[in-house]
Amino acid sequence: MNSFFDLASKQHRGRQDASGPHAVFSHPAAPVDPGEAAGGDEPADMSRPTNGSPDSIADVDAEPAGAADRQHRAAPQPAGKPASACPLMAAHGLSKSYWKGNHEVPVLQEVDFEVQEDEFVSIIGQSGSGKSTLLHVLGTLDAPDAGEIHFDGQRIDVLSSSRRDKLRNQQFGMVFQFYHLLPEITTLENVLMPLMIAEGALSYWRRKREFTERARQLLELVGMSHRLDHKPRELSGGEMQRAAIARSLIAEPRLLLADEPTGNLDRQNGEEVMEILRTLNAEQNLTIVMVTHDAGIAVQADRTVRLFEGRVQLA
Ligand SMILES: Nc1ncnc2c1ncn2[C@@H]1O[C@H](COP(=O)(O)OP(=O)(O)OP(=O)(O)O)[C@@H](O)[C@H]1O
Ligand SMILES: [Mg+2]
Repeated sequence: MNSFFDLASKQHRGRQDASGPHAVFSHPAAPVDPGEAAGGDEPADMSRPTNGSPDSIADVDAEPAGAADRQHRAAPQPAGKPASACPLMAAHGLSKSYWKGNHEVPVLQEVDFEVQEDEFVSIIGQSGSGKSTLLHVLGTLDAPDAGEIHFDGQRIDVLSSSRRDKLRNQQFGMVFQFYHLLPEITTLENVLMPLMIAEGALSYWRRKREFTERARQLLELVGMSHRLDHKPRELSGGEMQRAAIARSLIAEPRLLLADEPTGNLDRQNGEEVMEILRTLNAEQNLTIVMVTHDAGIAVQADRTVRLFEGRVQLA
């Protein structure tokens, strides 16, 4: 993985002074632009890749006035990087139940959670403790029954579905245990797919050269330059996950949400994926929230939040 570290450190240096297409993360902390016009409210398309071009949230249409100034109730902050006044993401009092007929199955119960900009937080808990549910709720893929989620100072759980889609596309990268690569297209095309969707055909084809260069750089960053034209079935599990990580970064997200990214990998591939995530956090200042059931993986984050039966368990 030497080439990865070489490139990662070059990219990191590049980030200090450049914001062109060659910087992996070219945008600074995106300011919120509350002035953007309101859009429609079509249903969320869960099949869409969760990335797009970099932008601000810019579209809080259901936000009560003054909410950006709201003082967040502090979530537990064990050891880790120092907390800033305004975390990148803060969730308070999240509750969610599923219903089996008339029987309520509580999954999240008044969960408080925060992640600071540049922090790497792991969420650990046994199977069924609600980890994936929490990650999906934080990523606005699923709605809480109660509670609030704020991102960059703005409340996001009340956004319309189209605005949640846009938020995910522009600000969040997502990585899943089973990769979710599209089987019929190549590694390079999979990485480009979020931009194809987010940009629309005309803009995408105009900027294809630039986007392709960015995708190639990301694939180099994760050690996949030699597999650009392979289809997912021609890749190992570790390679598929590295491609999925590259895809999650193509739109230069501010927050990476990873659900068991090593859960389907052998030890060596799992360690390589963790090395990539740690380096992205340390060198590229990427904020990461990672779900895992593996204590050895969880401790590699800055701090760990433990879920037990849908509640945050204090140490
Ligand atoms: N769509 C659903 N309908 C009903 N129950 C659900 C649904 N999704 C999850 N659950 C239940 O919610 C609980 C928490 O599920 P979740 O997937 O969040 O757990 P997890 O901690 O991620 O577990 P694992 O480590 O096995 O992935 C489980 O008991 C599960 O059966
Ligand atoms: Mg899970």
